[in-house]
Amino acid sequence: MSGKRVSHRVDGNKIEITFERGTAVLSVLREDIFNVFVPCETKEHRSKAIEGDKGVPVEFTVTEEAEALVIKTPALWAKVYDGFFVDFYKKDGTLLCADSRTGRIFGSQLSEKFISFLEAEGHDVPDASGFHYPVEIVKTMDGDEKFYGLGDKSGFLNKRAYEYENWNSDIPQAHTESYRALYKSVPFLITLKTAGVYGIFFDNTYKSYINLGKENTAYYYYGADGGNLDYYFISGGHMPEVVEGYTWLTGRTPLPQLWTLGYHQSRWGYESAEDVREVAEHYRKLRIPCDTIHFDIDYMDGYRVFTWNEKDFGAPGAIIREIADSGFKSVCIVDPGVKLDPGYAVYDEGMEQDYFAKTPEGETYVNAVWPGDAVYPDFGNPEVRSWWAKKQSYLTGLGVRGTWNDMNEPASFRGELPADVVFTDEDKKSSHAAMHNVYGHLMAKATYEGLKQADGKRPFVITRACYAGSQKYSTVWTGDNQSLWSHLQMAVPQLCNLGLSGFAFAGTDVGGFGADCTPELLCRWVQVGAFSPLFRNHSSKGSTRQEPWQFDETTIAVNRKFIELRYRLLPYFYDLFHECEKTGLPIMRPLVLHYEDDPETFNLNGEFLVGEKLLVAPVLEQGAVKKLIYLPEGTWYDFETGRPYEGKQYYMVDAPIDVCPMFVKEGGMIPIWELCQYVGEKPYDTLKMLVFPGNGTYLHYRDNGADFAYRDGAYHLYEFSGVPGQKEISVKLLHEGYTPYREIVFETRGF
Ligand code: NOJ
Repeated sequence: MSGKRVSHRVDGNKIEITFERGTAVLSVLREDIFNVFVPCETKEHRSKAIEGDKGVPVEFTVTEEAEALVIKTPALWAKVYDGFFVDFYKKDGTLLCADSRTGRIFGSQLSEKFISFLEAEGHDVPDASGFHYPVEIVKTMDGDEKFYGLGDKSGFLNKRAYEYENWNSDIPQAHTESYRALYKSVPFLITLKTAGVYGIFFDNTYKSYINLGKENTAYYYYGADGGNLDYYFISGGHMPEVVEGYTWLTGRTPLPQLWTLGYHQSRWGYESAEDVREVAEHYRKLRIPCDTIHFDIDYMDGYRVFTWNEKDFGAPGAIIREIADSGFKSVCIVDPGVKLDPGYAVYDEGMEQDYFAKTPEGETYVNAVWPGDAVYPDFGNPEVRSWWAKKQSYLTGLGVRGTWNDMNEPASFRGELPADVVFTDEDKKSSHAAMHNVYGHLMAKATYEGLKQADGKRPFVITRACYAGSQKYSTVWTGDNQSLWSHLQMAVPQLCNLGLSGFAFAGTDVGGFGADCTPELLCRWVQVGAFSPLFRNHSSKGSTRQEPWQFDETTIAVNRKFIELRYRLLPYFYDLFHECEKTGLPIMRPLVLHYEDDPETFNLNGEFLVGEKLLVAPVLEQGAVKKLIYLPEGTWYDFETGRPYEGKQYYMVDAPIDVCPMFVKEGGMIPIWELCQYVGEKPYDTLKMLVFPGNGTYLHYRDNGADFAYRDGAYHLYEFSGVPGQKEISVKLLHEGYTPYREIVFETRGF
């Protein structure tokens, strides 16, 4: 591909640019979003992340200037040069992102002259030899870039100087920052530097590689083992606009059912109905609110999906109906691996219909997962997805309220599936190499459709593996973390980066999945969990049990305190989800999202925002009872006491075991509901608004919390505004379509 530019042709929003060797297409999707596409493998995009035709009518110009073809909208310019170098500029002419003219530099290729240049510019001089990927894009780094996003990658918030791979991987070992790949592939980056901020989404499902200045500080690169060169450039005035643009493209987390925002209890180790009953009874007896119990693989008959283990769990669904009487919702795990077992209906049906992945020789491909020998549904085939969708009704028929998709990287106990295992990509044959990273995504899509068809409610799906855009169908958790302080520390940047990558509804296993939890670790983890969008305590067989009552009275009290706080804050979380569906802004946010001009926020891993105005600074170190916190500009008020703190400075605050420092920014208002033991226990008919000084505005949303009626207007939307100069709040009903509150009360703090 490339050589000199020969010609160009404008066709609708596409500019086809012909070079001496090959053709590239630049499309203008929105004023601020361009796509660059080279059909290396297929003529069309074949995106799994982006649904439908996204182009909207945009005014743009295409002109020949000096040495480049220049494409301009009122918000963004691209200049395309000979050699297929593409540079992006802000509307004021500031260069935002340039293709590297040198490409990647391996030691053996360096000229003396170039080495002196690198040294003079203060860049590393590489000494290793390397190789090129079939698809490769190299962008210059000017020096102060910070990188955020990339889904669930381990490590810290700012990904600069690290390298990563996108290859959905089942990693049972302790995740550390040396792991290049975990369960999810979200090749989306937000780059922040003095010149501005932009997002770049590399839409390619093959195994891919992202090196953020580790190979050389002069550039960052993206490489892929196959597929097309297909990337989206999203310019934003500010970081929230980049997130808005990316989620406009790949979809937004839809408003969930209200109960899913409550507290969830899970353990791989509830081996019978009796175990589940005991857990449910403990929560109600100890008056610790809880909405959901998760059923891990033992509820199935011999780990056969869509079956029931009657021996240990009684009549199908009986325990689900029993605990539903005291308000518990049940979520069941479903793995993709179908037991190879002639006579088992799911296996037989799949074999009859030819629904499983094949070897290149045409045999059904077999590997092993929990049930032993297992076969893999070919989710890239739309017929397989509708079959799987219909299968959900087996579970919903038993009263199950949500599906937890696990092991869908896909995991395989007898080594990785070979690259040439045959899968389908909609209407054509494909390979494991191309479909691996979207296996979990397509399984989640099928599950979402199935649950929606089954009960018409907003589907609750949790998935371990996924791809960019899966947020439209599923919530995610970060897989098999461990009961380690370093994993609690990692939870904050990991969830923040997932949020920036579109996954607003995400959580970690509270208390840690593997290894043994301690009382102190659980107390501190519940303080992070209470603010995580998905709030679930989950642990592994063989580890210390970690429901709150497994430990001492203090642990029970601390868990109760923060779980209760979560239930009081439910309207705040729900409002944030409502906002997210409209803007894509996540629930849990790194401070840099709203304070991108403040260098103190660039690498802030130990605190986060919930929405824009609530700042949470949990203790993440064993033994610590004080926390060093940073507050950005403005006045902040302690959530509990209302004590004011001036921002743009650090404070050391007290944080004994039962305290998680929380602050509300001036003008902040936080809606509170009466405490319930579970969603649905009592009607939420009274709203309390906690009002902090500084005249803000707050939108509060309310609907039936369950189905899609809100999309037809069945909701209430209130606007609360402080009246400048007065201790007064005005309330306006912006939309009337649901039931009003019986009472709205106000409480002031910090005045
Ligand atoms: C692996 C999952 O990550 C974990 O959450 C689950 O408990 C086990 N599989 C058993 O199903």
